[in-house]
Amino acid sequence: MTAKVQKRIEELRRQIEEHNYRYYVLDDPVISDYEYDRLMQELQRLEEQYPQFKDPHSPTQRVGGAPREGFATVNHEVSLLSLDNAFGEEALRQWEQRLLKLVDTPVNYVAELKIDGLSVALTYEGGKLAVGATRGDGQVGEDITANIKTIPSVPLRLRKELPRLVVRGEAYMPKQSFVKLNEEREAAGEALFANPRNAAAGSLRQLDPKVAASRNLQVFVYDILVLEGEEIATHAEVLALLRELGFAVNPHYKVCDNIEEVIEYCRYWTEKRNELNYDIDGLVIKVNQLDVHEKLGTTAKSPRWAIAYKFPAEQKETVVRDIFLSVGRTGVLTPTALLEPVHLAGTTVSKATLHNEDYIRDKDIRIGDHVIVQKAGDIIPEVVRVLPEKRRGHEREFQFPDRCPECGARVAREQNETALRCQGGLACSAQVRERIIHFASRDAMDIEGLGPKMVEQLLKHNLIENVADLYYLTMEDLLSLERVGEKSARNLLDAIEKSKDNALHQLIFALGIRHVGLGASKALARHFGSLEALAGASEEELLAVADVGPKIAASISNFFAEPQNQDVIRRLVAAGVNTKAEQNAGENDLEGLTFVLTGSLPGYSRKEAKEMIELRGGKVASSVSRKTDYVLVGQDPGSKLDKARKLGVTTIEVADLEETLDECARNN
Ligand code: IVH
Repeated sequence: MTAKVQKRIEELRRQIEEHNYRYYVLDDPVISDYEYDRLMQELQRLEEQYPQFKDPHSPTQRVGGAPREGFATVNHEVSLLSLDNAFGEEALRQWEQRLLKLVDTPVNYVAELKIDGLSVALTYEGGKLAVGATRGDGQVGEDITANIKTIPSVPLRLRKELPRLVVRGEAYMPKQSFVKLNEEREAAGEALFANPRNAAAGSLRQLDPKVAASRNLQVFVYDILVLEGEEIATHAEVLALLRELGFAVNPHYKVCDNIEEVIEYCRYWTEKRNELNYDIDGLVIKVNQLDVHEKLGTTAKSPRWAIAYKFPAEQKETVVRDIFLSVGRTGVLTPTALLEPVHLAGTTVSKATLHNEDYIRDKDIRIGDHVIVQKAGDIIPEVVRVLPEKRRGHEREFQFPDRCPECGARVAREQNETALRCQGGLACSAQVRERIIHFASRDAMDIEGLGPKMVEQLLKHNLIENVADLYYLTMEDLLSLERVGEKSARNLLDAIEKSKDNALHQLIFALGIRHVGLGASKALARHFGSLEALAGASEEELLAVADVGPKIAASISNFFAEPQNQDVIRRLVAAGVNTKAEQNAGENDLEGLTFVLTGSLPGYSRKEAKEMIELRGGKVASSVSRKTDYVLVGQDPGSKLDKARKLGVTTIEVADLEETLDECARNN
């Protein structure tokens, strides 16, 4: 009896998968929605009655499982490169010229649509979907398998079993679904998504897969990154194989014999792009011959064998109502144009950056001018040019003040810089404010409740002048502020107290030393091991740190030489702010080792354990591979432990994390 049930379950799964394929990939359904639902219901019923036959790859599992707490990271086996852009037809011709110099065999091209969505990598093991990940920075992405599984056009099982396959594609939201989603959100009083790409990204980063499941996401797959068990020679064959395996491949592509044919195809889609039910932002042109890909290779970020032809950016006319200046934490005065609001490429735009004084002069932008705006890199609004023919005489040139608009100090342009900078330094109220806001921000000292508004209030009431003063605030001080009750005052004091125990790199970053970002802060903390050692380092010693060049070294030296900064640091130390890297740090004794954590490690949160390993120069990956050195096993380990055993990776049961890491370091 059960054998019969099992057979029926398998048959239903195959049938449903087949109908999915016909619907999403071939666009040629052969049954009605009603009949499809009936099959699905029968399968659901049987799986509930006979739970022994449940399978995570069954089509019933697309509805989305339990919500998660966060996303694990995934190290991509093959880097997910990005593409160089060609703006205009001439750039395509030049690309071909460069290419033809490097190859001696004839080539042709495949021109594909460039889907404006979110790049994802899908890994199949033994023909089954194992991991779905975002691109992230190309090396490390986020594990969004639970959300990917809810997308019906992503096969959970391949139509042909291959030992291993990693593919890359673009997740997107069809235009109508985006409009409908925003209508629903508006009715519910929720914030609207700016465009379908943001909506797709927001949906895939949902911690609750049921939400992702409800968003009608789709994926077009366009590349194979790892293939075992098949041989192919051209990109056109890649696309054909992907389709055979069950993936949705965008039907609009063309094999072109030369670049003029490619250009013709680009022109066609520039005209027709609005007829598609999803957004595209250009075309991707790829050399068809895969052996030529190997020969051409890649630059640091992108392959030489492909290029993105970008559509000209959408442009609109509007009026500059005013120009205002803001002062950043290093004193740079940045001008911004206040615009008559216009709808542009998916959002309403009412401000555009004017970068600096030269930019305004070169383009001759005046208050009251009619201007053409577009989005740079499709995101940041900018003024392209002025329409001088529309001037009527009332337009005004913008004068940069010679005094800081916030503190009145002198404004100067430093050597080799385009920026004008307020020379008020620590006396400039705007710089002081921005520095304190930066000090409290998430990657810095991470003081919850100390946002821009609170900082402004504290400054206004003269309760603080610099970041050290934060550590001397009292309950009484806080209660003297408007709209601050006992509870929020207590929370803020607790958050400030807690920040004293932060890692050294957070403090270094928080100090806001020019040119010292988060990455350099980590490297400096690891190298010097304490703030005192960093402050006492010569420029030569600073240059010994891998991530530090002459500009950063000079900036650090200047910072610590400044008596006012020394005073702030003295008072931070006196207040008990941690200035030491965690034990063993500075030795980099875990450098070159990759760890995977599973189960809960005694005494440490996942984040703390990760930080501790990273501080000692080790890496933490989210999934086990042959490249993993150690799997650290805590209480209630998950499937990573089985995988480690299967792959023969060393596993260690952790009783004391520090001791375990010391042991790993000794063997390193
Ligand atoms: S090929 C190494 N093909 O465009 C080749 N990319 O600007 C990598 N994209 O990050 C990409 N449609 O997310 C390729 N048909 C297509 C694409 C496509 C959209 C995205 C992709 C990539 C970005 C590059």
